[in-house]
Amino acid sequence: MEIIRTVKALTERLDALRGEGKSIGLVPTMGALHAGHISLVDRARRDNDVVVVSVFVNPTQFNNPTDLATYPRTEEADVAKLEAAGVDIAFIPAVEEIYPEPDTRQFDLGPVAEVMEGAMRPGHFNGVAQIVSKLFGYVRPTRAYFGEKDFQQIAVIRRMAQIEGFDELEIIDCPIKREADGLAMSSRNVRLTAEQREMAPVIHRTLDESLLWASTHSVGQTKQFVIDTINSFPFMKVEYYEIVDALTMQPIADWADAEQAVGCVTVFCGDVRLIDNIKYPPRR
Ligand code: PAF
Repeated sequence: MEIIRTVKALTERLDALRGEGKSIGLVPTMGALHAGHISLVDRARRDNDVVVVSVFVNPTQFNNPTDLATYPRTEEADVAKLEAAGVDIAFIPAVEEIYPEPDTRQFDLGPVAEVMEGAMRPGHFNGVAQIVSKLFGYVRPTRAYFGEKDFQQIAVIRRMAQIEGFDELEIIDCPIKREADGLAMSSRNVRLTAEQREMAPVIHRTLDESLLWASTHSVGQTKQFVIDTINSFPFMKVEYYEIVDALTMQPIADWADAEQAVGCVTVFCGDVRLIDNIKYPPRR
């Protein structure tokens, strides 16, 4: 595996590979890699001749300085995992390499970016659009891979790709990878105390139980069930639970309002912010 730290070296290397007719899969990450990331790499490995993984904690998408400061940084372990997963190129730039000057671009991301994470974390999705558009521009991948844990993020990236004209590039969503007890894998899980870690699987368990509840209750009742149930456990505080149309990300009032309804939750487990989601069976 090659480790590349500059944009110039990356683009030169990829131009050469592209010249040989190779397809390129990109897996953008912020490091602190776990089996969820490796499942994206495995998929990229199957689909493409060359796999590039970027490892970059992008400062412009953090609206909370403490979250940025405490975000886990584990480069040595990340490199070992990428090597073992058969990655061809790890792109690990410094902040100054990506932002030699401030990125002042404001993306018109529209309604998909205005609700849920967009409402709770002002500027977050604009920062995601900044870094992902830069990565798409440097790598010019054939395909790019994102995990469905960040369900809304994928919709925002699709919108960014559309407005920036990345028409050829295929964006591939990959299923959430879970721990054996159901907790969605996340780089933030390492910040949970032992007691919080024990409690955290109630998020997925409750979402799962809500599938049955939803078959005989309204959208509003199902939302309330999820919020009340999760909040009844120690350490857990739901920030929001929204049931939205999977394409538009807009909250629905009735199950028939969406072809595919998705419930998206954010929960503070102590001071660690965890997210998860679940797809409800179609009702129309
Ligand atoms: O999902 C993430 O880890 C990040 O938001 C991403 C897509 C790598 C951009 O920094």
